[in-house]
Amino acid sequence: MQKIDEIRQLVEKIKAEISQYNYQYYVLDEPSVPDAHYDQLFQQLLEFEKKFPELVSSDSPTQRVGAPPLKNFSQILHTVPMLSLDNVFDEKEFQAFDKRIRERLNFSEKKHISYVCEPKLDGLAVSLRYQQGLLVSAATRGDGQTGEDITLNARTISSIPLRLLGKNIPEILEVRGEVLMSKAGFDALNDKARLAGEKVFANPRNAAAGSLRQLDSAVTATRPLEIFCYGLGEVKSEVNAEVNGFQLPETHSEMMKQIAAWGLRVNPLLQKVSDPDACQAYYQKILKQRDQLPYEIDGVVYKVDDYRLQQRLGFVARAPRWAIAYKFPAQEQMTELISVDFQVGRTGAITPVARLKPVNVGGVLVSNATLHNLDEIERLDIREKDTVIVYRAGDVIPKVVSVVKEKRPQDAKKIIVPTSCPVCGAKVERIEAEAILRCSAPETCSAQQKEAIKHFASRKAMDIDGLGDKIVEQLVDESLLNNAADLYFLKQQQLANLERMGEKSADNLLKAIEKSKNTTLQKFLFALGIREVGESTALNLAQHFGDIHKIMQASQTDLEEVNDVGPVVASSIRNYFSNPKNKAFIETLLMTGIHWPVILQKDAADMPLAGQTFVLTGTLINLSRTEAKEKLQLLGAKVASSVSPKTDCVVAGEAAGSKLSKAEALGIKVINEQDFIALLDNLLKA
Ligand code: IVH
Repeated sequence: MQKIDEIRQLVEKIKAEISQYNYQYYVLDEPSVPDAHYDQLFQQLLEFEKKFPELVSSDSPTQRVGAPPLKNFSQILHTVPMLSLDNVFDEKEFQAFDKRIRERLNFSEKKHISYVCEPKLDGLAVSLRYQQGLLVSAATRGDGQTGEDITLNARTISSIPLRLLGKNIPEILEVRGEVLMSKAGFDALNDKARLAGEKVFANPRNAAAGSLRQLDSAVTATRPLEIFCYGLGEVKSEVNAEVNGFQLPETHSEMMKQIAAWGLRVNPLLQKVSDPDACQAYYQKILKQRDQLPYEIDGVVYKVDDYRLQQRLGFVARAPRWAIAYKFPAQEQMTELISVDFQVGRTGAITPVARLKPVNVGGVLVSNATLHNLDEIERLDIREKDTVIVYRAGDVIPKVVSVVKEKRPQDAKKIIVPTSCPVCGAKVERIEAEAILRCSAPETCSAQQKEAIKHFASRKAMDIDGLGDKIVEQLVDESLLNNAADLYFLKQQQLANLERMGEKSADNLLKAIEKSKNTTLQKFLFALGIREVGESTALNLAQHFGDIHKIMQASQTDLEEVNDVGPVVASSIRNYFSNPKNKAFIETLLMTGIHWPVILQKDAADMPLAGQTFVLTGTLINLSRTEAKEKLQLLGAKVASSVSPKTDCVVAGEAAGSKLSKAEALGIKVINEQDFIALLDNLLKA
């Protein structure tokens, strides 16, 4: 008997320890112990619970998953209704909100009102009910009065504590918050779904809603959901006040600190301000950060801080008078699909582009959006004249995310996939595995010529300053250029005759073309536009062979010896160099005087950062991304675009966002720009 008591105590201790680590990892975003230690404790707990099933309790970290699927959700009545928010869309409307509040409270314009500013998170609202500190139920908002019982699903979300931490926990505490999916989590989920041929979600909010409203909580458990808490429902706390004089906070800002102390996750961007102008400044600040944040937000929320004032203001219909949402310009808009054009790229790949009735999306007029590939056309079942939803965020190319089928007109036309190249008329090949169409005439198709020359001249390739897209297009259309080698034979008069070109700019362009002859083997290889040979493969090839003719003559086996070159890449390189036209093209280029410094071949493994993978994120102030990348590669490091468990180090510049959070979550080493420059200096000097 004594033994079981001892074990019970030990189990309680392990449970508390695990909950503490969980809290640090998921709520505070500050992991405190290595994953392996956590795993070991967890395993220990599982073993005890297996041996002594009577010790399994509902707040055990092992009990987050494992309930059998439900047939349907039962309903939960909200004892305190779950309100929504009224919206404003500009500064004037916000000022009117502030004015209404002052009038109701009989406050003059000068009287100070504290507001709490928060991001408006784009997920779905939930209510978590804790009794004696234990999570007993979780519900969606539903109609505000009654929601769906999603307790089993909520229990699978690691940032939702199963038991609250700390002191003075009310007998009943209902906490409201937003469940969401991070942008990175959403992308990973969709990538996986695409590979498996499963349904993809249109945006992180839909993905969060679909994942939370799952009848099988084991499915929810696999989805990367998280929570931020921003308010309260029912609270019963008499006991505490009587026993030890504890009083619940009287302001929203203090209450948020209190619930954070109980182990609930509160958004770090929450900020208390003392006048309406500061609210406006907060809006601007958060709007600037929007694209860098690891999760989606659709505005900011302002709440009167003082609970007594909140009570005096009360609410109307479904929204409180003491809070308002100031919405950001929408990133999604509805518009009409006029047609689908097929664009021919540098390698002949033909990609579908949606031509849209122009629509303003977040301040930018959008009339084209990408449709990725043929599978996407099928998946969306998109037709001409359909009403579609387009999404645009930051600098990314707008994309069509879905079709509003209810609005499909009778005469909507199916998209006809071309059987010949839309530019040169050559036959089209379809590469089944990639869902890609390709024009079969690489040398003669003017679209491919233009794109190949643009690529050749681009910054990371031969870097010909001033050779813009429009100039390339004119030169090809007038048959002055057939391929990039022709650039080196252009005459001043030919250029000066072009539209919007004078003698001066023709001279400058010729100078830039001449200057480009002084390059590196890596840039030259990259400029050739060999399929599968990106910047880093070009560098590996240059370092391995050190000589263009050796690369041209290398066999499949020779090529496969190069770092990161597999059979597919090797055969693409072979394919390129076995074409006599390509060989002649290279010889012509060399003949014009293109040259690079001799590469002293180092054994790749000897380089100081050999075998290490770096990721650059955020803005670097003292050097450009390209420079940083080139330096790292020179030292033997690989530079990847996304963070994965294989990443060795993340360089975080200013306003680093989701990549930084992911690195932190994965426990990957993160260095700032200063340390990064010091590292480069040290290694490059050595
Ligand atoms: S407070 C009584 N705060 O926006 C106040 N809501 O459009 C009720 N939301 O249903 C909500 N971020 O799902 C509040 N910081 C935040 C929020 C937020 C997102 C959601 C919430 C609400 C909806 C109203």
